Amino acid sequence: MLNIARRLKSADVLGINRRNAQYTLPHNARRLYPLVDNKARTKQLAMAMGIPVPELYGIIDYEHQRRNLHELLERYPDFVVKPARGSGGKGIVMITGRQGQLYRKVNGQVLSWDDLKHHVSNILAGMYSLGGQPDQALLEYHVLIDPVFQAISYQGVPDIRIVIFLGVPVMAMVRLPTRQSEGKANLHQGAIGAGIDIVTGITLDAVRKNQIVTEQPDTGFPVSGIQVPHWDTMLKTSARCHEMTGLGYQGADFVLDRDKGALLLEVNARPGLNIQIANQAGLHNRLKLVEQHQQSLKSVDDRVAFARQHFAAQ
Ligand SMILES: Nc1ncnc2c1ncn2[C@@H]1O[C@H](COP(=O)(O)OP(=O)(O)O)[C@@H](O)[C@H]1O
Ligand SMILES: [Mg+2]
Repeated sequence: MLNIARRLKSADVLGINRRNAQYTLPHNARRLYPLVDNKARTKQLAMAMGIPVPELYGIIDYEHQRRNLHELLERYPDFVVKPARGSGGKGIVMITGRQGQLYRKVNGQVLSWDDLKHHVSNILAGMYSLGGQPDQALLEYHVLIDPVFQAISYQGVPDIRIVIFLGVPVMAMVRLPTRQSEGKANLHQGAIGAGIDIVTGITLDAVRKNQIVTEQPDTGFPVSGIQVPHWDTMLKTSARCHEMTGLGYQGADFVLDRDKGALLLEVNARPGLNIQIANQAGLHNRLKLVEQHQQSLKSVDDRVAFARQHFAAQ
C-alpha cells in the first residue's frame, strides 16, 4: 500500500483507525450488521426493495437437509455454493456444468457428489464463516459474464464495489478475477482492482498487490478505458442501499450478468480501504464533503447528482 499511498496526498488517504473512529463506529449501528453479515438476509432485503440479485435456489440449514441438496441440484446444470456468512471468497464453489455424475468447476476440475456434500458439511460446520460460527450454505444462480469483461477476467465474473456514505456513492472499483484468484473477484485471493470514474463509469488503471498494472496479467488486455455497462443503474441502486440497510458507511458489490444486467451480490459494513489505491485517490476529502452537505442530500437523485458533480476522476 505504501508506495502508491505515498504518492497520494497522505492527508486525504483514509486509514483503518480513522475509518473506524469517524465512519463505521458512529454511522453504522451494531444492530444492523447482521443484515449484511448474512448473504441470505441481504438478498431478502434487496428483493423487498425490488433490487435484482442472483436468484437463490435454496438454503441448506442443517446437516440432515443435505439430503435435499441432490434434489435441488438435479434442477440446475450450473450453480454456485457459498457460505451465507463467508467473506473474502472463501468456501465459494462455482459449478459450470455436469459431466455424467461429476460436477465441473470453472477451472475444469471436477467434483464428485461426495466431494460436494463434504464441502456443504464444512460450510455448515462454520469452516468459512465469521468467527467459525455454524453457518448455512446458499445455492444460487451462476452469473454469466458480460462480454465487456471477457478479455480482462480470467475464468470468473468481476465484481463492482461502490463505497456509499450517507447514501452518496463516493468511490468505485471493479475487481477482476485472475488465474490465481480461481474465478473469484476477491483481492486477497489475487484478483486485481481497477478504479472506476464515478461520473462516466469508465475504468482506470488497476492495482495488483500495491503495484499499478495497466493490463490483465493473464490475458494481456488493457484494463483501463472500458465503459462499465449499466453504470447509471448501479450508481442509483448503490444510493438506495442507504435506505435498504440503514448503514451510513458501506460498500455495495454488484455483478453484471450477460442477460440480467446489474445484480447486487453483497453489502459490506466495513469496506476495505484499498479502493483508494485502485483509484489513486483518497476517500477522506470526499467523505468530509458529503458530511458538510448532508442536509441537502435527501433523495436518491440528489445524492447521485452530488456524486457526479464532485467525484470525477482527476
Ligand atoms: N453467483 C455467482 N456467480 C458467479 N460468480 C460469483 C457468484 N457469487 C460469487 N461469485 C464470485 O465470487 C466472488 C466472491 O463472492 P461474494 O458473494 O462476494 O462472497 P465474499 O463475501 O466471500 O466476497 C465474487 O466477487 C464473484 O467473483
Ligand atoms: Mg465479495
